[in-house]
Amino acid sequence: METSTLIRPNNNNNIKSKNKKQTSPLLTFLFLFTLILLFFYFKYFISPSLLPISPKKSLPILPLPIQCNPINRLQGKFLWYAPHSGFSNQLGEFKNAILMAKILNRTVIVPPVLDHHAVVLGSCPKFRVMEASELRLSVWNHSIQLLRDCRYVSMADIVDLSPLVSDSTVRFVDFRAFVSTWCGINLDVICSKDQNIPSPLSESLWQCGSLLSGYYGSFSGCLSALEEDCRTTVWTYQKDGEDGALDSFQPDDQLKKKKKISFIRRRKDVYKTLGPGSAAESATVLAFGSLFTAPYKGSESHIDIHEAPNDSIIQTLIEKIEFLPFVPEIINAGKKFALQTIKGPFLCAQLRLLDGQFKNHHKATFLSLKQKIESLKQTGQKQIHIFVMTDLPMANWTGNYLGSLAESDVKLFVIREDDDLVQETAKDVMVAGHGLEVGSVSQISAGIKKRRHPQSLTDFLLYIEEVVCSCASLGFVGTAGSTIAESIELMRKHDICSG
Ligand SMILES: *[C@@H]1O[C@H](CO)[C@@H](O)[C@H](O)[C@H]1NC(C)=O
Ligand SMILES: *[C@@H]1O[C@H](CO)[C@@H](O)[C@H](O)[C@H]1NC(C)=O
Ligand SMILES: *[C@@H]1O[C@H](CO)[C@@H](O)[C@H](O)[C@H]1NC(C)=O
Ligand SMILES: *[C@@H]1O[C@H](CO)[C@@H](O)[C@H](O)[C@H]1NC(C)=O
Repeated sequence: METSTLIRPNNNNNIKSKNKKQTSPLLTFLFLFTLILLFFYFKYFISPSLLPISPKKSLPILPLPIQCNPINRLQGKFLWYAPHSGFSNQLGEFKNAILMAKILNRTVIVPPVLDHHAVVLGSCPKFRVMEASELRLSVWNHSIQLLRDCRYVSMADIVDLSPLVSDSTVRFVDFRAFVSTWCGINLDVICSKDQNIPSPLSESLWQCGSLLSGYYGSFSGCLSALEEDCRTTVWTYQKDGEDGALDSFQPDDQLKKKKKISFIRRRKDVYKTLGPGSAAESATVLAFGSLFTAPYKGSESHIDIHEAPNDSIIQTLIEKIEFLPFVPEIINAGKKFALQTIKGPFLCAQLRLLDGQFKNHHKATFLSLKQKIESLKQTGQKQIHIFVMTDLPMANWTGNYLGSLAESDVKLFVIREDDDLVQETAKDVMVAGHGLEVGSVSQISAGIKKRRHPQSLTDFLLYIEEVVCSCASLGFVGTAGSTIAESIELMRKHDICSG
């Protein structure tokens, strides 16, 4: 890609311009007048080749982007957001997007599964997170990169949305289908071996991405690019008297002084702020930043909508999306391994040993497994079968508990990334291409071809392993604090292995 053509127009950035000093109207007028004069002078009296700088480098002149011209406007109302971090996190955000979209009666633009930690948010408790428009642009960049590498996998390729789509509980459209139409770009041509997107295409992609991310600000009736994030806002829904109230968690004085931050966190009703009667409501696209939330010090970091007693439709949806299963191709692969390879009853051990915070807790992680095995032995289990999923490569098992376990009388099972099962499942999922089928509601027919290449077999391995663990009838031992363990518990609760 020709990076030199991709200049970010900073001075249109509405985040920074908010704090600008007031200038006298006369000065502003004179300045603008001169600019306009200069513009016409250059445009009409100087041929492009004489220009001192390449015209590509000049700021895009966009009083009104074509997407925002009423004649070209898309039918429908859409919701975009910026997923980030690992898969479990992205799934959590996706659920929140579905919830927000239902409350606001918008169509969810379904994002791709992003590479593990390709985009990160920062820390909400420390009030240090990426600006919403910056975050959206990173997600845009990465999504385009995935398309270009021919490794694009949609969230809806992995997670089964058919129960939500079939009774049109929520409307979805694939990100690729949306972009093809909104940006007027044929995305099929950008997946290529030589990695060189023709420059005009790369430029219009860049402009469309910057626009969608909110780099030129919002456009009335067209795009509402929200700046709200976990430093300023906790979204609520129908909580009496809470709209506009201060949240209980605020930056403490020490943090305020040291980091010179002046954030005030308010609780805002999402329907009152962005629903009927608001400026955001009329916009074709409503773009959130991160939709990640987590409980912190008695509050939620960004979204505090766990129930909606006054709205039965939303209440039902909240219950429905608590658990979104994997697509049948993945579930069947996990079941097949449990039934045909492990056979009989088995225990699942999910041991997170390498990543960040988990490095220092090996003892505790191993201890609960040890205790579980002991208790199984006491109940008279003969040869215990254990399915192990861990990020520690097998070559490194010697010298720790896993190594000794492998040499004991229990029988261990693992799946490796290069096993046929993983490769075939990935292939099946790509062929099924559920991701492009979700957008049937709209007339957006981009005719994008189904991709043949999965993004990463590591991810597919993880999905299959989670299913296998949910089939473990002797029990499950997970790593405390791991989101993977949480999602396995959820799958076990919903009994995905039966039937
Ligand atoms: C929700 O949006 C759809 C499609 O834009 C529209 O037909 C429907 O009337 C809307 N529902 C409500 C309750 O506004
Ligand atoms: C997006 O990509 C462009 C060009 O590849 C780069 O200049 C820009 O800094 C990137 N922005 C973000 C937020 O990642
Ligand atoms: C929810 O319903 C209760 C009981 O009907 C009512 O008192 C309350 O005001 C309602 N709250 C909202 C936000 O509509
Ligand atoms: C695993 O073993 C390899 C080869 O012995 C070594 O290079 C690597 O550092 C080990 N990794 C960990 C996480 O212990």
